[in-house]
Amino acid sequence: MEAQKENILEIKNLHTWFHTANGIVKSVDGVDISLKKGTTLGIVGESGSGKSVTALSVMGLLMGTRGKIEEGNIFLDGEDIVSLDKEKRRKLRGGKISMIFQEPMTSLNPIMTIGKQIVEGILEHQQISRKEAEKKALEMMKKTGVPRAEHMMKEYPFQLSGGQRQRVMIAMAMVCNPEILIADEPTTALDVTIQAQILDLMNQLKKETNSSILFITHDLGVVAEICDDVAVMYCGKVVESGDVRSIFFQPTHPYTKGLLASVPKLGVEADELESIPGNVPNPQELPKGCKFAPRCMFAEDKCRQEEPQLFDLGNGHLSRCWQSGGQL
Ligand SMILES: Nc1ncnc2c1ncn2[C@@H]1O[C@H](COP(=O)(O)OP(=O)(O)OP(=O)(O)O)[C@@H](O)[C@H]1O
Ligand SMILES: [Mg+2]
Repeated sequence: MEAQKENILEIKNLHTWFHTANGIVKSVDGVDISLKKGTTLGIVGESGSGKSVTALSVMGLLMGTRGKIEEGNIFLDGEDIVSLDKEKRRKLRGGKISMIFQEPMTSLNPIMTIGKQIVEGILEHQQISRKEAEKKALEMMKKTGVPRAEHMMKEYPFQLSGGQRQRVMIAMAMVCNPEILIADEPTTALDVTIQAQILDLMNQLKKETNSSILFITHDLGVVAEICDDVAVMYCGKVVESGDVRSIFFQPTHPYTKGLLASVPKLGVEADELESIPGNVPNPQELPKGCKFAPRCMFAEDKCRQEEPQLFDLGNGHLSRCWQSGGQL
């Protein structure tokens, strides 16, 4: 399988399963996602749809879990990284690909100063002196807009506010000019004004470094604001993808339509909001046919029997629905 040149990251037919004591959990079960160079792609979907497991598969962070990539390819700049050995995979992390998580406290080392953590990260990937790395770390901290950057370099993670910690995580993630930044719900733990500042910061750094971002979120408002393209995930698969305009103005998959209908709008009372009936099915008891059929008010017999493929609707818009493929 070949990767397309304009795509910095191409995930093809990815299957990541967990082999648990209670059986196999097919968390990611045939995901296709393409991230174009210099753009931001949003991954949305309800809890449990496989967004984080997709991100961890790209990062090569499944060790220590019962998860395994069973099938598929992950092309980074045209090279398939799934088959790389552990050492090569480790070198990519924090170098070519970085990730920031929802709760920075879990990914920062609690007993190492902020400055030291950033410096060690730089030294792992770049052949420069400690002095130069320290200078670089400080410059990066200043760029993130934390107050009194010099002082903060000597502090420990617990001495910082949530928003400051997230800025430090962004500094650590961006200091080696990654080609791809994966952000997994990076702002959900923060209040709205801080959230907006963090998104601005990510956008600004992305422009400066010409990196590309995979942005995982529940928040479609954030997607509209910062993403160029969107992939909607349901039960371990992408059910619809395309550029932001097509997804927001011409959604075709009933699941995407349901997600959009449940976004709060100005002037609409919360209890008037539509929500998608029912719940995401247990990944160990997935229905036959279209995984969304049991919750879909348009479902017909064919939907309950046969799983649709991703139909190409033109202009890069794809939808995994028999109806949008014109086959019902
Ligand atoms: N370490 C693990 N062992 C077993 N199952 C797991 C593991 N990690 C994730 N899963 C399962 O994989 C499925 C997808 O999980 P994932 O964390 O990717 O969801 P998500 O889309 O990121 O959800 P959320 O929005 O809540 O973060 C879930 O059913 C989850 O229970
Ligand atoms: Mg998640």
